[in-house]
Amino acid sequence: MAGSWTSVGPDVHLDWDPRTGRQGLADALRDAVRTGRLAHGSVVPSTRALAADLGIARGTVTRVYTDLAAEGYLRTRQGAPTTVAAHGGPPASPPRAAASEPATRWSLRPGSPDLSAFPRTDWLAATRRVLHRAPSSAFGYTEERGARPLREALARYLARSRGVLADPERIVVCGGYSHAMFVLATALRERGERDLAFENPSLWIHRDIAAAAGLTVVAVPVDADGIRVSELDTPAVVVTPAHQYPLGMTLAPGRRSALARWATTTGGLVVEDDYDGEFRFDREPVGALQALAPERIAYAGTASKTLAPGLRLGWLVLPRALVDPVRAVLTAQGWRAPVMEQLVLAELIDSGAYDRHVRRRRTAYRTRRDRLLAALPRALSPQGISAGLQVLLTLPEAGPAERDVLAAARRHSLTLETLGPHWHTPGPHRQGLVLGYATPAEHAFSGAVEALSRTLADVLG
Ligand SMILES: Cc1ncc(COP(=O)(O)O)c(C=O)c1O
Repeated sequence: MAGSWTSVGPDVHLDWDPRTGRQGLADALRDAVRTGRLAHGSVVPSTRALAADLGIARGTVTRVYTDLAAEGYLRTRQGAPTTVAAHGGPPASPPRAAASEPATRWSLRPGSPDLSAFPRTDWLAATRRVLHRAPSSAFGYTEERGARPLREALARYLARSRGVLADPERIVVCGGYSHAMFVLATALRERGERDLAFENPSLWIHRDIAAAAGLTVVAVPVDADGIRVSELDTPAVVVTPAHQYPLGMTLAPGRRSALARWATTTGGLVVEDDYDGEFRFDREPVGALQALAPERIAYAGTASKTLAPGLRLGWLVLPRALVDPVRAVLTAQGWRAPVMEQLVLAELIDSGAYDRHVRRRRTAYRTRRDRLLAALPRALSPQGISAGLQVLLTLPEAGPAERDVLAAARRHSLTLETLGPHWHTPGPHRQGLVLGYATPAEHAFSGAVEALSRTLADVLG
């Protein structure tokens, strides 16, 4: 199994099988130096960065770097980055037996893309272009709504990829969807609203954010067709129409039009959380709901699934009447998204590199989803459409219970997340696992799936 990581500068592919442990990692690095994939004199990643990318202890990487420095492959200096030695290293040493590694921790927790696939080279190239081209004035205070080049790039991108009726004047760049939710909820509360409805189940953290902004969270049931629109009786509702989180279905066509009709006839507001709309695997994605009623639907997107959550970049496309109230909240918060990240993302989108990256990730996640489903025991049924970065696995009514699966997962060094916390209130709900197959780095995916298989075999008997 091959692993891959990226160094400072060009992407470097490292053929490392985690089962070969420390010695295998040292061999893979020697090989990268010998074949010139790691150029003489180039900076190698810090021990912290490489350990995080590979999902192993930092001490392991430190020992490998020390060994390779002693062998003449690397050059380490106090207070300076480690580099590839100017004249390479000695001839190849014979392969050694795998050393025992400390237990590896696997994760199939949902919420994150594969961070080791972040397009570092494209991001770096886009940063260079931005720094070459941008006038000095670009680095001054931006508008609260966000840097215009990003709002313009997003308007074009969202129109062509998600069918959003976007115009840069209505776009607001936020610190991810979570920040967008807080800002929007604050704007609603300030115009006198008290309640905000969420699907039941839905991502619990967003309900907490709305509550922290002073709104009362109201539960609306979800069935096989998505949210039950007929049960709405709040002025505003948050939905995930393209891929219900965490159940995984799309909002049925009849419900889509009913929801748009509800918003236009009652004057209600729909917040459309389009967190993973780019990742539909079985067919072309259904376009955004927003186009059905752009003056009543606030569309929200994020770079957290397409690129990385650490960027903290998300966006709202607002009904015109909400632009000024939202701006006022941003002003009160003293909020402006960091300008460099905004300009680089705009450049990434305009250059086509963002679309290429999304296409590559779509193929990778589709393959992972298929591999994960193929490894599941027959007794367990995956739910939802072929899309996104996570899949719900419903547990049989006869058991095991979520807590039993979590306990077994711990025995196999696997982190999992259950459906339980996503229900608005505790109770006798359907039980399940929300499996995030995008989370592991490529080299760790098979191990994570094997750990899941062992966990399920334990609890299913
Ligand atoms: C349902 C849902 N919406 C939105 C997001 C994105 O949140 P953010 O942009 O704050 O990272 C996530 C991330 O896990 C999510 O699961």
